[in-house]
Amino acid sequence: MSRPPTLLAEARADFEARFGRAPAVVVQAPGRVNLLGEHTDYEGGLVLPVAVGRATLVLAAPSPTPGVRMASAACDDGAHALTDAEGAPFPWEPDDGSGLPRWTIRPRALLSVLREVGLALPACDVLLHGDLPLGAGLSSSAALGVGLCRAAEALHGRDLSPLERSRLVQRAEHAAGTPCGLMDPLVVSVAREGHALLIDCARESFWHVPLPRGVCVLVADSGARHDLSDGHYARLRAECARASAFLGVRSLSEVTMEALAAGMARLDDVHLRRVRHVVSENARVRVAARALADGDFAALDGLLRAGHVSLRDDVQCSVDAVERLREVHDALADANKRSLTGARLTGGGFGGSLVALVRRTRAEALLDALREKAREALGAEVDAFVTDAMGGVELLDG
Ligand code: GLA
Repeated sequence: MSRPPTLLAEARADFEARFGRAPAVVVQAPGRVNLLGEHTDYEGGLVLPVAVGRATLVLAAPSPTPGVRMASAACDDGAHALTDAEGAPFPWEPDDGSGLPRWTIRPRALLSVLREVGLALPACDVLLHGDLPLGAGLSSSAALGVGLCRAAEALHGRDLSPLERSRLVQRAEHAAGTPCGLMDPLVVSVAREGHALLIDCARESFWHVPLPRGVCVLVADSGARHDLSDGHYARLRAECARASAFLGVRSLSEVTMEALAAGMARLDDVHLRRVRHVVSENARVRVAARALADGDFAALDGLLRAGHVSLRDDVQCSVDAVERLREVHDALADANKRSLTGARLTGGGFGGSLVALVRRTRAEALLDALREKAREALGAEVDAFVTDAMGGVELLDG
């Protein structure tokens, strides 16, 4: 249920094979799922994410050669110089003429932000490794950003606060073309073992909420890949911003149920759906935080299912592959009501993973059953795993 111990050894061996020496800094940054509170962080809403047992590892060692060289084990296309000899990152606009692969866009944007705040990476070699799948809705981009930022801090002998770090990572994401909220880098930075993180995004305050005893998290990948910079996410944000301008509020989280009812007739269908989602999702998160504290499994089941319906119908960010897998999952949950909740799409959507809660004593059996049912119904192998709620980013060496 926790991280395979061999992963770190493999990553170190890979670093030595590529760069001919041991890493001086090793950082482990987990991925996350969001239990509830989706597409609300950029509207000042409440969110309830959990760090999972799959992680990105960032390994680095100072180098006598000027500039920053970086390799990605997942992309396996060699080490690339991402900066000039003075450490200034090469530009990262699409078609920037740099000839650098797409996966280097985010690191280049982050290196640039780090440089602006006095955390420029010194001449060094960096390897990105780990078992967190890319584009599966588990926030591989925030794990990469937070991991790289924590490595830069270590190389400078600094330790930023989780909020400072998260804001830098968010700034880099925006610079690289994804106008995301603060949820992902914050939970990757500050998650606590055994707990979900309740964040009030308007106030940027957070609380650790324990998961009920004996309950863990099931994650199932729909296999449909998404990229937050593909325009869907930015469109949703713009629709929310238009709706709040129309209703005269700073963010949709200020809209009450009563105001929503009153404003209904004046909003067109698309904007009405977006507002209804934020208002109802904030209410669901409030109830879910209480249900977690009370260990109310049945209430959590209802909330996760309702959260999914709202994402599908009001945010309109589900896709066929997600719906097919969810039907298989929910049929299994219906037959095991006391042990498995219904599933909900997690993360930005348009593909990615489903999340559910499961009783630990039945977790492995239900995971096997889900794989088998998915094989029968969809003719596909599903990448699914069970995880405890994990802690946030960790400096392992350096
Ligand atoms: C992505 C973004 C987050 C959040 C979610 C949707 O994961 O990075 O900021 O908006 O989508 O809840």
